[in-house]
Amino acid sequence: MRESLFTTRITELLGIRHPILCGGLGPALADAEYVAAVVNAGGMGFLVAAGFPDPEVFRDQLLRCRQLTGGQGFGVNLYISRQAGGTQRLERQVQVLIEEGVKCVETAGASPEAVLPALRDAGIKVLHKVPAVRYARSAARLGVDAVIVVGNDCGGHPGIHGISSMVQAAQATAELSVPIVIAGGIGTGRQLAATLAMGADAILMGSRMLVAKELAIHEAYKAQVVGGDGTESIVVKTGLRDHHRVLLNESAKAVAALDATGASDFEQYRPHVVGALATEAYRSGDSRLGMLDYGPAVVFADAIKPVEAIFDDIIDDARHAMTRLGQLTRPHKTNDHD
Ligand SMILES: Cc1cc2nc3c(=O)[nH]c(=O)nc-3n(C[C@H](O)[C@H](O)[C@H](O)COP(=O)(O)O)c2cc1C
Repeated sequence: MRESLFTTRITELLGIRHPILCGGLGPALADAEYVAAVVNAGGMGFLVAAGFPDPEVFRDQLLRCRQLTGGQGFGVNLYISRQAGGTQRLERQVQVLIEEGVKCVETAGASPEAVLPALRDAGIKVLHKVPAVRYARSAARLGVDAVIVVGNDCGGHPGIHGISSMVQAAQATAELSVPIVIAGGIGTGRQLAATLAMGADAILMGSRMLVAKELAIHEAYKAQVVGGDGTESIVVKTGLRDHHRVLLNESAKAVAALDATGASDFEQYRPHVVGALATEAYRSGDSRLGMLDYGPAVVFADAIKPVEAIFDDIIDDARHAMTRLGQLTRPHKTNDHD
């Protein structure tokens, strides 16, 4: 494992070696094995609560993760639903994660306002993930510990505004005083160095990690990701205003065709977007069907490797980027002889 290269407000807040976070990967890809590998490699990972709907299975995952990390802190990804019934499920998840001493949560979806008091009382750090700086502003006002701003390149849900990570990083750091994590299209150390240079405190990755050895995805799919160059990612479900960046497979083509007709009735989309299709694709390696979250950062996923080796590559690359910047900012030599 590489030595710590950067100390930021996020490394200090979370007590981690590198300012590298790996976002929740649903449905149940970010499980105890994967999250522990991220933590043991010096970053922060988030176990996806929604992937383990049975509270006791969720608890077992937390216990396993704690065991695999030797007691180091780790995170949970909480989906904050706007739908009826969501609140009760969320309350149960929060209760279990508090009981099991989870260190931090990555909240995504609707506002985390309802769960903040319980999490704060338990000393759990809250990092709220948003697809545009305007939502980060509201989260900061609520008193979250940090915001994660994802740009349009991200695998998963880029929001409806389509603003790039490059713009959001520069905007967020100018406008917000809370610690800032930038995500969307990131998979290299030079992007880490650039993000920190822009004033942010950490990066968060998803797509780049699809080739992590510890991730419970069929090897054939990981090999396909290694071969991808990012052009096979597409944003669909625009008709539902639930923009979703996924792998361009048969389901995505069918959904894009629905979007093109202006369809806005979920029932028309349902056969192509049910979660069971994605679960089966990850299990079998046959990626033709299902909404498979997938962003252009797969272009950086050049081999199936343990998380620690991926982090080593990123830190080495960040160091090179810093050296290059140092060379570019050396005092300027001229040919003048005066
Ligand atoms: C396969 C996959 C599954 C994901 N599942 C979730 C999820 O369940 N919950 C969530 O908040 N974000 C999810 N995300 C988004 C990531 O946590 C992260 O925000 C995003 O991948 C960052 O952009 P990147 O893909 O360009 O690195 C997923 C991303 C991928 C690639």
